[in-house]
Amino acid sequence: MAHRVLVIPGDGIGAEIMPHAVRVLQALRVDFEFDYADMGGCAIDEHGTPLPPATLAAAHAADAVLLGAVGGPKWDDLPTDKRPEKGLLGLRSGLDLFANLRPALLFPPLADASSLKSELVADLDMLIVRELTGGIYFGEPRGITVDNGGRRGVNTYVYDEREIIRVARVAFDLAAKRRRKLTSVDKANVLEATQLWREVVAEVHADYPDVELEHLLVDNAAMQLVRAPKQFDVVLTGNMFGDILSDVAAMLTGSLGMLPSASLNSAGQGMYEPVHGTAPDIAGQNVANPLATILSAAMMLRYSLHEADAALRIEKAVADVLDQGLRTADILPAADADDLRPVGTDEMADAVIAALPRAP
Ligand code: IPM
Ligand code: MG
Repeated sequence: MAHRVLVIPGDGIGAEIMPHAVRVLQALRVDFEFDYADMGGCAIDEHGTPLPPATLAAAHAADAVLLGAVGGPKWDDLPTDKRPEKGLLGLRSGLDLFANLRPALLFPPLADASSLKSELVADLDMLIVRELTGGIYFGEPRGITVDNGGRRGVNTYVYDEREIIRVARVAFDLAAKRRRKLTSVDKANVLEATQLWREVVAEVHADYPDVELEHLLVDNAAMQLVRAPKQFDVVLTGNMFGDILSDVAAMLTGSLGMLPSASLNSAGQGMYEPVHGTAPDIAGQNVANPLATILSAAMMLRYSLHEADAALRIEKAVADVLDQGLRTADILPAADADDLRPVGTDEMADAVIAALPRAP
C-alpha cells in the first residue's frame, strides 16, 4: 500500500524548498501518494484563515504530514488568532502531536560552521524532546485586556500530570535506545507547574531504571548547552523552554538550516518540519538550505512510515554531499571557502538525489 503523505509547503523558503524534498522522496522507489494543502500565510490569502478545515481533515486522513514553514512580514500585523503561526499551532493540537523530537546532530564536515569551537561540538548528537500541545502556548486564561488600570497581558503556564507522563515516556523510550541519559529541564525553583513537571518525570523514571535521569533548571541548561553541549543525550522539556533551547541546540550544529523535527501523537501519526522558519529575506533566491526539510522527510520515513532503510539512505546521501564539500550559503564559513563548493537550493537537492544509495 502506498504511504499517504500530506504535503504542506507553506510560505517563504518553506514553499521554495518543498518541491525539492518531494523530489528526493520520489527518487527512493518507495510508494507514496502525495496530497497537497494550504496552511499559514498562503492559506490566509487563499481561504481567509491560516488553517482551513479541509487542511486539518486531510492531515487527519494522511499517514504523515510534511510541512515547509509558515509566516512572513506580510501577515505580521494580524491579530494573534489570525496569524499564520496559529495554523501551525492548530495543526499540532488538532492532531494531538504532543511529542516534538528535535535532534541536534553535527555532521563532521560542518564542525567549523558552528559558532562554538569545533572540539566542543565534534560528534555532537543530542535530541530535544519538547512537549508541543500544552504549557504556556495553550494555557487559559490568555489575552490582552483593558480596564481602567490600563492594559494587561495574560498567559497561563499549565500542565496536568497526564500531559507530562505521556511525553516523559516518549523521552525515556528514546533515551533507552540511545546513550541512556535523560535531562529534564524546568524552572522548579520558581514555577509550581514545573515543580509538578519535575515530580512526575521522577515518578515515570521508576519504570526506566536503566536510564540515568538528571534535572536542570532552564537557565543552567541554556548555559550548559553553550558551555559543554556533549554532556547531553536526550533533553526533555516543556513547550516554551523547548522552543528556546532547540534554537540554541540548532545553532551548535552550524546552522538552523540543518535541523529536522518530528511531532508525534500516540497513534504514530506525525508531522515533519524543519526547525527553521520561512526566512523571507532570502526566499525565492535559490539560496536556502534544503537539508533540514530533506532530513525531516527522512524522519518521516523512520517514525511514521516504517521505512527505516529509506530514511538511512537519505541520511547517508546528506552526509555524502557534505563530505563532497557542497555548501549552501548558511553553512559556508567565509574563512575556508577554498575547498568548498557554494551551491544553491536546487543544486544541493540534485546532489542529494545523485548520492542516494541504491535501494536494497
Ligand atoms: C517552532 C516555532 C514555532 C513555535 C512558532 C512558529 C509558532 O518557533 O516550531 O519552534 O514557537 O513553536
Ligand atoms: Mg522556535
